[in-house]
Amino acid sequence: MRIYQPTLLTFATTVILLCISATAAPGGSRQLLYSRDDPITIPPYLVFENARLERAYVALQAWKRAIISDPWNLTANWFGSRVCDYNGVVCSSSLDDPSIKTVSGVDLNHGDIAGHLPEELGLLTDIALFHVNSNRFCGTLPLGFSQLSLLFELDLSNNRFAGKFPELVIGLPKLKYLDLRYNELEGELPESLFDKDLDALFLNSNRFVSKIPVNMGNSPVSVLVLASNRFEGCIPTSFGKMGKTLNEIILMDNGLQSCLPNDMGLLRNVTVLDVSYNWLVGELPESMGQMEKLEVLNVERNMLSGVIPEELCSLKNLKEFRFGSNYFTGEPSTCCNLESYNSTMNCLKDEKDQRSTMECKLFLSKPVDCDSFKCNPVTACVSPSTPPPQISPSSPSPVASPISPSPSPPARPCPPIYPPPPPPPESSPYAQQPAVEIPRNSPSQSPMN
Ligand SMILES: *[C@@H]1O[C@H](CO)[C@@H](O)[C@H](O)[C@H]1NC(C)=O
Ligand SMILES: *[C@@H]1O[C@H](CO)[C@@H](O)[C@H](O)[C@H]1NC(C)=O
Ligand SMILES: *[C@@H]1O[C@H](CO)[C@@H](O)[C@H](O)[C@H]1NC(C)=O
Repeated sequence: MRIYQPTLLTFATTVILLCISATAAPGGSRQLLYSRDDPITIPPYLVFENARLERAYVALQAWKRAIISDPWNLTANWFGSRVCDYNGVVCSSSLDDPSIKTVSGVDLNHGDIAGHLPEELGLLTDIALFHVNSNRFCGTLPLGFSQLSLLFELDLSNNRFAGKFPELVIGLPKLKYLDLRYNELEGELPESLFDKDLDALFLNSNRFVSKIPVNMGNSPVSVLVLASNRFEGCIPTSFGKMGKTLNEIILMDNGLQSCLPNDMGLLRNVTVLDVSYNWLVGELPESMGQMEKLEVLNVERNMLSGVIPEELCSLKNLKEFRFGSNYFTGEPSTCCNLESYNSTMNCLKDEKDQRSTMECKLFLSKPVDCDSFKCNPVTACVSPSTPPPQISPSSPSPVASPISPSPSPPARPCPPIYPPPPPPPESSPYAQQPAVEIPRNSPSQSPMN
């Protein structure tokens, strides 16, 4: 009997997975759920097409062992040496040796599977695509993933991953699409994330709490979604630098507290900009009238004021503009011609459903000093003695957004340890498989074709 003990696993001779109950009090109860160090054994009668498929067998068997619930029986046919026939496993010709087939992708989207990701997944060194969205995987991303040097798309969205941002992804040289939304990740974002050559970054609906790193503008992403976390402080002044590549940016439902950067107008290719449900103050920068591609603009539920720039509502692609629940005092007449717009609860004289004169007067009597937020490190050095930001205590609080599409049920801890599942019966019928869905906002290019 062969015993597989890959060297990359030496750092993880004991795999201990802690799943921390999301509902527990801070520092509260932890459960030891899984502890195992016995290697996967390869039955001597199995014959593999090549050594890499044999390694993939080890990875997939270790993963199957780490699964404690598979309601659609997706992994029921994960046995035997024909790993390319396993449900959700994609094989193709190896990039470095086209004469052999290797595992190039895993797609278990919408599997509703519970369990965790074992270290052995690091043996899938030929995968370009790892999609497990909408399952119940918990724990953390194992360090073994740092071996996946061809990984291009990583979609862990809508699971129960917890802990800090998995920094190992920054070292993955080919990674372009990173989707971690709808998990329970917490803490700060590493600055290096925004220096990485990604195309799409989804971090929404986690528990990140930090300032948005000042180098955000270095990121070459076309889509950036940081919504529904607790990001605070400034919208980085480097924002305008993203003009060459950025198409969509969603910062809604956080605790951002600053003015909008003056050079927003450099974001010429942006079609969707949503900064709603924050604590932003000041005026909409005049330069926003140059955002020629803008189709959807949402700034509602902030504390913005001033007059809406004349050119903004004349932008020829603009269809939807929501700016309700702010303190704007004027709008160009062209705004009324937009397909969809919402201006309620402002300080607009000729509109209905506005704030009271008293409320407007009180708020608008306090001047806004954008420099006081010290968003620009240079400004901070030049004027160190600026007064603190003027925030009205009676201002609206950014409550959870009604449009935040939260599908995640309240998080639960992983269930307790189970023994490895018995081998499936020989006649195992093909599992009823949920329709394989493209992840929401899947990138257009895929290395799999
Ligand atoms: C999965 O397999 C179990 C045991 O064979 C069976 O009872 C169950 O109905 C199957 N579920 C589905 C969705 O096919
Ligand atoms: C907008 O995108 C196109 C490619 O789609 C690019 O050539 C152009 O430089 C971008 N615009 C700006 C202002 O960077
Ligand atoms: C406008 O937006 C506010 C929230 O800011 C909402 O309560 C209201 O229903 C919206 N009105 C329309 C006509 O959509």
